[in-house]
Amino acid sequence: MLHYKKIAVVGALFGFMIIGMAAVRPQDDPKPKHNFKVLPRDISHDDLEKIMDGWKAALGVKCNFCHAPSADSTSHRLDFASDAKPEKTIARHMYKMTGKINKKYFSFNKDEQGKTIPAVSCVTCHRGSPHPGEVR
Ligand code: HEC
Ligand code: HEC
Repeated sequence: MLHYKKIAVVGALFGFMIIGMAAVRPQDDPKPKHNFKVLPRDISHDDLEKIMDGWKAALGVKCNFCHAPSADSTSHRLDFASDAKPEKTIARHMYKMTGKINKKYFSFNKDEQGKTIPAVSCVTCHRGSPHPGEVR
């Protein structure tokens, strides 16, 4: 009788251990997966926020114009690393284009330290609209 009790207790403990390990698992991997293709991978949180706020204002849109909703439908969050929305891909092309325009045609535009001042930015063309090409 005592023998069976021991087995049951050891079995239960083992079971709890497995459940415990499974529960702790997701916290073992706290590093979010980033997906940077044009911005520096080591960009600070503040710099990223400034750029995103700038794009949002320049186009007159919300974050969800470029960022797809989270796959988990019970969450109201956006999945910022996802590339599901084509607007995000276009924004990357736009970022590269803007950099090229500044480098190629505005390199005379330098500050005292000799650093090129970006003459053209998203808002130069977009002016608060996602479709600057539209006739209004
Ligand atoms: C015009 C499109 C656009 C808008 C609007 C925009 N984003 Fe982004 N966002 C991007 C692109 C493109 C990237 C990826 C940059 C890269 O590839 O280097 C990105 C990346 C991010 C990331 C990093 C995701 C990762 O891989 O870890 C975060 C966080 C983010 N955006 C938050 C925001 C927030 C918050 C807003 C609203 C204030 C916003 N974005 C508005 C286009 C946009
Ligand atoms: C030289 C002018 C110019 C600059 C600079 C520029 N854009 Fe654009 N952008 C356009 C034009 C023109 C379109 C096409 C608009 C249309 O479809 O009517 C466009 C389209 C887009 C679209 C797609 C909109 C849609 O609904 O499909 C996104 C997103 C975008 N731009 C983001 C940006 C971001 C972010 C920047 C700065 C990093 C930027 N653009 C800089 C001219 C520009």
